[in-house]
Amino acid sequence: MNLLTGSHIEEAAQYIRSKSSLQPEVGLIMGSGLGILGDHLEETVIIPYHDIPHFPVSTVEGHAGELLLGKLAGRPVLLMRGRFHMYEGYGPELTAFPVRVMKALGATLLLVTNAAGGVNTDFEPGDLMLISDHINFTGRNPLIGPNDDELGVRFPDMSEAYSKRLRAIAREVAAGQGITLREGVYAGLLGPTYETPAEIRMLRVLGSDAVGMSTVAEVITARHGGIEVLGISCISNMAAGILDQPLSHAEVMETTERVKSRFLGLVTGLIPRL
Ligand code: HPA
Repeated sequence: MNLLTGSHIEEAAQYIRSKSSLQPEVGLIMGSGLGILGDHLEETVIIPYHDIPHFPVSTVEGHAGELLLGKLAGRPVLLMRGRFHMYEGYGPELTAFPVRVMKALGATLLLVTNAAGGVNTDFEPGDLMLISDHINFTGRNPLIGPNDDELGVRFPDMSEAYSKRLRAIAREVAAGQGITLREGVYAGLLGPTYETPAEIRMLRVLGSDAVGMSTVAEVITARHGGIEVLGISCISNMAAGILDQPLSHAEVMETTERVKSRFLGLVTGLIPRL
């Protein structure tokens, strides 16, 4: 049940406005190990999540838990270093609360990134994948509960959850930088266990190319609020059962560490073009 209302959103937004007069155009949610992008902002104001009214705090290693306001490639952005996952025990509406706050601050675009397991066997760890669509396998939805018509419609259209316009720009920018960009469907699961090999075979049959434990609640909330979304997954490992080796968070962090300069170049190149 959605217990966060317009007044909670406004209180959080008000607090952030009191710390920075910057009006962000683009919201950036950085996945595991990818918060490094925050170091490249200019005129940065850093706000710890625990200071922001109604914000949860993230509990995962590799997720710092702070909001950054600043300029990236000259453009005002709001960057989340660390995000909230449902496996941490947060409800989907709390997981996606920062997206509501971004919208209240004026953002009209969301660039969401994550680390994901490669389900498509053509992929390799270290690949970057443009998210063309998602499948919400969490069994949860941040919009459950009374609808606030001020925020969006009761039954939001999800036929273009990930903007075609933004995807075309991402392909162009990646090509210009000589970066191979895969493209595919992101399956969002609850976690925190990684999947079984049987679950991965099922996900593949059902049309998934990558699997992860974030993103879907945030993107649903963004679309509800009319925010245009671009999503990029860093394929941090092959999903369970593809290689004869166990999965670990250490491998996820190692791979994101390895690709981060390529990833950083892509996102920085994208921002002025979106
Ligand atoms: N499965 C689910 N989530 C993930 C994975 C995975 O293999 N890799 C990184 N996040």
